[in-house]
Amino acid sequence: MGKLEIDYCGVKFRNPIVTASGTFGFGYEYNDYVPLEEYGGFAAKGLTRKERAGNKPPRIAETPYGILNSVGLQNPGVETFAKYIMPELAKTFDTNVIANMSGNTIEEYAEMAEILSETDVALIEMNISCPNVKHGGLAFGTNAAVVEELTREVQKRCKKPLVVKLSPNVTDITEIAKAAEAGGADGVSLINTLLGMKIDINTRRPILANNMGGLSGPAVKPVAVRMVHQVYNAVKIPIIGMGGVASGADVIEFMIAGAKLVALGTAMFAKPDLILDVKREINEYMDRFNIDDINDIIGTVELN
Ligand SMILES: Cc1cc2nc3c(=O)[nH]c(=O)nc-3n(C[C@H](O)[C@H](O)[C@H](O)COP(=O)(O)O)c2cc1C
Repeated sequence: MGKLEIDYCGVKFRNPIVTASGTFGFGYEYNDYVPLEEYGGFAAKGLTRKERAGNKPPRIAETPYGILNSVGLQNPGVETFAKYIMPELAKTFDTNVIANMSGNTIEEYAEMAEILSETDVALIEMNISCPNVKHGGLAFGTNAAVVEELTREVQKRCKKPLVVKLSPNVTDITEIAKAAEAGGADGVSLINTLLGMKIDINTRRPILANNMGGLSGPAVKPVAVRMVHQVYNAVKIPIIGMGGVASGADVIEFMIAGAKLVALGTAMFAKPDLILDVKREINEYMDRFNIDDINDIIGTVELN
């Protein structure tokens, strides 16, 4: 069996497989299916400065090969996570925890980074798909200048590796990735969900109470692979790839495109123990191609 360990921003991961924020709760909910130690690490549900109840239901709609969600960042707030949840996770499980945070203002993001820096989290992932209150509600992640300033300000108060999670709802994702790098990001993760909508033709009403939601699952995978490939060629900081990953072959594909870590997300809703198949398939692939170290495949796509 080949070597699966990955060094991501100075943090050791026992394998390249993590989970995507919002699809894995706070980890312990999934430990009954598969011990959390099987993963390289996991991303916890997105945190906000104060607790949030999330959006009204329905918040999930099924679509061909995917789902639309508008959960609306339901979470207990960063302080509850830092004070109660994270200490318990650190005591109970031997795996890397990635905290994920969302804010309405630069100050909120910076405060959360400061609070999370005092915990045992391995990485802080900054979700920039959130509405920017100061700039008329347009998402932080759609404006390169804002992303650079946000990253720079947050990095000043962040003592953990800071990973900026990019939104795919932009014209050129490489511009945003470069802005995050210029602002001092230690890594980037991509993709977040693609904005979508589903309408009931009988009632002419959208299925989601929030009208629109984020598309995820296998349907988005080719978009995600394309973006990981483009970002890999645009920046030097390491990438966490995600978007529709549902097999070991998908993990390998994201790594060949340029990802160093790869997250499972929506696919786990149908198969909570997916990680076990994924790891077996990766080992089979490495044996078949005589790969001793998984790091050797990162960014090795050979373009036509
Ligand atoms: C129900 C649900 C909740 C999510 N919540 C968050 C979140 O809190 N923070 C975040 O950065 N991304 C969130 N995401 C996006 C995922 O982390 C991931 O980027 C996206 O779903 C693409 O991966 P997938 O197709 O494998 O699910 C959420 C996705 C889903 C489906």
